[in-house]
Amino acid sequence: MPFWTIVYALLFYIATALLVGGLAYRIRIYAKTPAPLKIPTTPAPVTRQGVVLRMFREVAFFESLFRSNKWIWIFGYLFHFGLFLVLARHLRYFTHPVWFWVDLVQPFGKYAAFFMVIGLLGLWARRFLVDRVRYISVLSDHLMLALLVAIAMTGLSMDYLSHTDIVSLKAFFLGLMYFNWQPLPEDPLLLVHLALVATLMIIFPISKLLHAPGVFFSPTRNQIDNPRAEPGLRAHDSRHIAPWAAELDR
Ligand code: HEM
Repeated sequence: MPFWTIVYALLFYIATALLVGGLAYRIRIYAKTPAPLKIPTTPAPVTRQGVVLRMFREVAFFESLFRSNKWIWIFGYLFHFGLFLVLARHLRYFTHPVWFWVDLVQPFGKYAAFFMVIGLLGLWARRFLVDRVRYISVLSDHLMLALLVAIAMTGLSMDYLSHTDIVSLKAFFLGLMYFNWQPLPEDPLLLVHLALVATLMIIFPISKLLHAPGVFFSPTRNQIDNPRAEPGLRAHDSRHIAPWAAELDR
């Protein structure tokens, strides 16, 4: 096997293990962390279905961000929506046969890369131009943005400047998944794109990007507004008793 194929094969096995294991570990901690107080941001849904709908609006449209800051919403939404289409388009490298909706999304995915970059640059500009945000921005905020921009730019360069051999690339990744290694094309742009992606996978579980799974565990969004209505709770006290506190109370 060529040298770079071995290096990248090992790199992607390690990166995948760290991403999956790291995320599972983090999510377990989130799930086990007590949320002793009823603190849904009101007006909040009073039923479970209502909470599911609220969470859907939050994840699909960034509802609370829209309410609080239109500029961040525009750039944030552009970036995330672009990212979503780009990742959907990338599924063709990992599936055989390619699912029909992944085929459908191909042309959009290409333009979505521009949304992604515009969104990222807007979010980045904010960290320099808005005094309050510049003050609280740390190196890692800038590095995360730089990494994502670099991934998008190397990807776009493969679209518009110098193509790579997509058929061999797909054979390489399917080979990794089926433990039947195939050679990786050695175009510099592809090697850089993949090294940056592996970096992203490795740091994801220890980075602020954890907000992606984290939003589902946010007490202000995922709680039902029923502190006085739930039969299990102390109706007369008109206060919420968390399960662990009820045990202490006994
Ligand atoms: C192992 C995972 C990945 C592989 C194998 C891969 C490979 C590629 C290839 C071959 C292209 C050029 C497509 C073409 O010429 O038609 C590309 C483009 C691109 N990649 Fe990736 N990439 C991966 C992960 C990612 C990730 C995680 C992101 C974003 C965070 C990303 C962002 C982009 C963008 C924005 C483009 C340009 C638009 C497009 O063609 O979809 N890539 N990638």
